[in-house]
Amino acid sequence: MTNAQKWVAAFLVVFLALFGLSKLTEKDRTVVNEQAVWENNATPGEQNISTDVVSIMNNAKCTSCHGQDFKGSAKGPSLIGVNKYWSRDQLINYLRNPESYANGDRFKKYMEKYKSFMPSFEEIDVKVLGRIADYLLSLK
Ligand code: HEC
Repeated sequence: MTNAQKWVAAFLVVFLALFGLSKLTEKDRTVVNEQAVWENNATPGEQNISTDVVSIMNNAKCTSCHGQDFKGSAKGPSLIGVNKYWSRDQLINYLRNPESYANGDRFKKYMEKYKSFMPSFEEIDVKVLGRIADYLLSLK
């Protein structure tokens, strides 16, 4: 290889490496953005935390099955007083994976009564699920 050819080869390698790197970081960025959508809804000001959580839950369609004031609808049970049944951690787990709780008596009855089922909300950031859990546990 002549010196000129070596330079060309070196440039090619650098170019490809940078190209690959930019593709990788591009992917990261879209993931972060999706997260930001949930977080943005959740963060504007401490005093408003419960309303913000409510708007997150509106976006996630919780209210379309559990009712505007979470008192229940034909598609889902009331969520008032769920603190009787759940700890914070259990509730977060449940929201991520509701099918794994389907065997309890309460849930068998729910299954007969409501023709819909509780979808999994795995895609919501765990921190946001924590806020949702805090809010639900405060409903009395
Ligand atoms: C498509 C309708 C639907 C949507 C959307 C929905 N749920 Fe549910 N949810 C149900 C049904 C039906 C049940 C009854 C249990 C089951 O089917 O697993 C339930 C059960 C629950 C329970 C357990 C109630 C209990 O008695 O312990 C909680 C908590 C809950 N949902 C929270 C939520 C939250 C928070 C959201 C939004 C992030 C949400 N749900 C969205 C239909 C829905």
